[in-house]
Amino acid sequence: MILSGGEGTRLRPITHTSAKQLVPVANKPILFYGLESLREAGINDIGIIVGDTEDEIREAVGDGSAWGVEVTYIRQEAPLGLAHAVLTAADFLADTPFVMYLGDNLIKEGIAAFVDEFRRKDVDALILLAHVTEPQRFGVAKLDGTRIVELVEKPKDPPSDLALVGAYMFRPSILDASQAIKPSWRNELEITDAIQHLIDGGRRVEAHIIEGWWKDTGHLEDLLEANRMVLEGIEPRCEGSIDAASRVDGRVVVEEGAEVVRSNLRGPAIVGRDSRIVDSYIGPFTSIYYGVTVEGSELEHSIVMENSSIVNIPGRIEDSLIGKNVEITRAQTRPKTFRFVLGDNSRVGLI
Ligand code: G1P
Repeated sequence: MILSGGEGTRLRPITHTSAKQLVPVANKPILFYGLESLREAGINDIGIIVGDTEDEIREAVGDGSAWGVEVTYIRQEAPLGLAHAVLTAADFLADTPFVMYLGDNLIKEGIAAFVDEFRRKDVDALILLAHVTEPQRFGVAKLDGTRIVELVEKPKDPPSDLALVGAYMFRPSILDASQAIKPSWRNELEITDAIQHLIDGGRRVEAHIIEGWWKDTGHLEDLLEANRMVLEGIEPRCEGSIDAASRVDGRVVVEEGAEVVRSNLRGPAIVGRDSRIVDSYIGPFTSIYYGVTVEGSELEHSIVMENSSIVNIPGRIEDSLIGKNVEITRAQTRPKTFRFVLGDNSRVGLI
């Protein structure tokens, strides 16, 4: 079961119009990494929990055949928490053990080892954990050996530095536990409370700690970091065209139909299908999705989504997330003014 509802409040304004799970990281929607991880773990019957962005998710994922899996869409009427999502999916889950994967999470090493461990063990739940520097931002676990004894959601005073990563293995007992709990202060049925209910009822809940990196991409900084981490592992290739006046250093991917003219690309970076980079500099950790134009501009450590254009911008654009169909241009006409059409909660940093 992959959770792909939620309002994405921390990524507005991008999420006013689009699903956060479809924001591209290294030119691939975040959700697709999750689908790949589940398939690699041998799971091919996948329920995707959707909310207001259902249509967009359906269009992107289809019936799952592109991944060799079968996808069922399950509508959650309101984002009332992870345990609420479990209850919503009760019919789909039936009486089988399952993995619950948060669609905005990226786990580098995947979940195959985690799922294998669950298959071998007689436990009610196996919870994926990672050491983090800011446990207050997550659900946090306290362990006794490999056994989890306590879980707290967003604790002010964390009992450890072990955060719940967005992947959980459950047996059907989690359904009764989700039914038994009450909504939290943020009015959500928290999965941490449901798991705590299992523990309090004497059920065995164990931890699997991951070594590699993991990112919950709910915030801009985390999204850019995830982009950086994925780009660090890319293999360079050029399926588009790079003219003789351009210079490419480091690991750079230029996808089909993309054109690079009189520009300097410094990897790791990726230029998507049918994008045009002209008289520009694209610096490290930049992902440019498809149909984008960058002309006479400099861009670094940023994500640019599809069909946007950035033309003749005098300063370097950095640490930015630029949505779909966005135009950033420099007007030649007088009076010399700034002209913006920005969505709610947009953020603009001028020099
Ligand atoms: C959710 C869970 C939290 C977990 C986190 C991982 O938080 O409630 O326990 O650590 O995902 O990404 P949320 O994104 O709902 O704030």
